Amino acid sequence: MSAQLIRPIVMMGFASMCLFSTEASAIPVDPGVRTASTDNSSPNPLPGLGTDELAFFADGLARFTTIEVVSGAVQGPGVSQGNGLGPRFNSNQCSSCHSQPTIGGSSPSENPLISIATAFGAANSVPWFLTPNGPAREARFVQSNGAYDGGVHDLFVISGRSDAGSCNITQPSFSPAGDPVSGQGGNPNVVFRIPTPMFGAGLIEAIPDSVILANMNQNASQKAQRGVRGHANTVHSGIANLSGNDGTVTRFGWKAQNKSLLMFAGEAYNVEMGISNELFPQERDETPGCQGGNASPNDTD
Ligand code: HEC
Repeated sequence: MSAQLIRPIVMMGFASMCLFSTEASAIPVDPGVRTASTDNSSPNPLPGLGTDELAFFADGLARFTTIEVVSGAVQGPGVSQGNGLGPRFNSNQCSSCHSQPTIGGSSPSENPLISIATAFGAANSVPWFLTPNGPAREARFVQSNGAYDGGVHDLFVISGRSDAGSCNITQPSFSPAGDPVSGQGGNPNVVFRIPTPMFGAGLIEAIPDSVILANMNQNASQKAQRGVRGHANTVHSGIANLSGNDGTVTRFGWKAQNKSLLMFAGEAYNVEMGISNELFPQERDETPGCQGGNASPNDTD
């Protein structure tokens, strides 16, 4: 299995988890913005890791901050790089979207996607929903050509980049259609996701399904009183009562749709950066002449 995929996962095993308070009378208090010694630096590994695990953590961190390019070498001191970016992408680096308050976190205060749109000579326009001090956003289309879609549509294309050869695909249109009645607002077909932090995600992965289900069923009457409800998502085929996979509880990402961090990382490489890999071997856009001369899957080490 690709080390590029596995290593960020060990990195995700740090930091803390939230605990659900069962104190019915507890009054919640907002502690405000908190600071930590690791803010704006690098995250610490969990205490007690062995030598191999620490090396794995460091390697995952390096890969997570690598600036990906389409092909060739990145110029600049100390810039690590990987090849295979695009043809379509949202960003060129995992940590660009996950860096607040430190690497692995959420979207930073200065939106990284504004400059990434035109990095290396690309001619992408910046969609209306990205603002300089707003969050990194990714876009899903509710419908495409009248049919239910729901998928993430990459914001940018590699066309025009100095490392992209003669690739000439076009950016999707995100232009606002406006509200049909008021004329206000953005394209109603576009819905957004913002980056969630991944601190402690390795610990979430380690929880047995039985514990998640038992927690869900606990304190049923208090939950009902407060309108707390829901159900676990599972690895399934999407057809009622048919399990297309192993049927166990999924945990990560939007509506907990991903089973594991390995799975999530493989998906993020292909969806966010267009880097196909052993878990997601096909390019999302297979246009010849836009693959930077890279074989698919792009990442195999
Ligand atoms: C363009 C911004 C962007 C980039 C780049 C990006 N992510 Fe994310 N990430 C998101 C968003 C948005 C979410 C929220 C969940 C979702 O959309 O399913 C997320 C969620 C996650 C989660 C799930 C956390 C949880 O607890 O459910 C993991 C793990 C993750 N990203 C890993 C990665 C890795 C690894 C990379 C690099 C290969 C990466 N991300 C690159 C935007 C980004």
